[in-house]
Amino acid sequence: MTRTVKDYIRTIADFPHEGIMFRDVTTLFADARGFRMAIDQLLHPYAGEPIDRVVGLEARGFILGGAVAHQLSTGFVPIRKKGKLPGPVISEAYALEYGEAVMEIHDDALRAGERVLIVDDLLATGGTAEAGIKLCHRLGATVIGCAFVIDLPELGGRKRLEAMGMEVHALCA
Ligand code: PRP
Ligand code: ADE
Repeated sequence: MTRTVKDYIRTIADFPHEGIMFRDVTTLFADARGFRMAIDQLLHPYAGEPIDRVVGLEARGFILGGAVAHQLSTGFVPIRKKGKLPGPVISEAYALEYGEAVMEIHDDALRAGERVLIVDDLLATGGTAEAGIKLCHRLGATVIGCAFVIDLPELGGRKRLEAMGMEVHALCA
């Protein structure tokens, strides 16, 4: 039987904390067919749409976003956890499924009016993606969509992003 993207992802119980069912995409990334399938499917909804830049969310969004940007022949812009980017940044604090964090983007990374696609591996509460969207908006960019490999709908992220007017695509739940 043909394997789907979901078939390449494994779930590890109680990582990084007890009670968390961690969706591990390293097994997807490690498989040539699975990885290509994921990149192709992430891009599918945006066929024919102008995209100026791909924005990836640390850390697994860098791996996916880099490949998506290469496929689109666009530039790639990282949104990183606090303290990792070397130049002047703007910041947004957010809450996670487990803990709290601050996301940052270089303050000159996007130009006003640019159309950006945000990419990450997983949508849970939506806090990370919301912080990413806010950072892009603060630089004057238009977020044309948010693309994820996995959506955990019970954690409410999709509803939260859709309430912000975002178009959300995910390959599996
Ligand atoms: C994971 C995942 C998303 C985020 C989703 O990253 O890769 O970025 O959580 O959760 P949310 O929708 O509830 O915000 P994590 O925070 O584990 O960081 P890492 O990729 O740097 O390990
Ligand atoms: N980020 C937040 N929740 C997660 C989960 N269940 N698996 C992997 N990454 C996550």
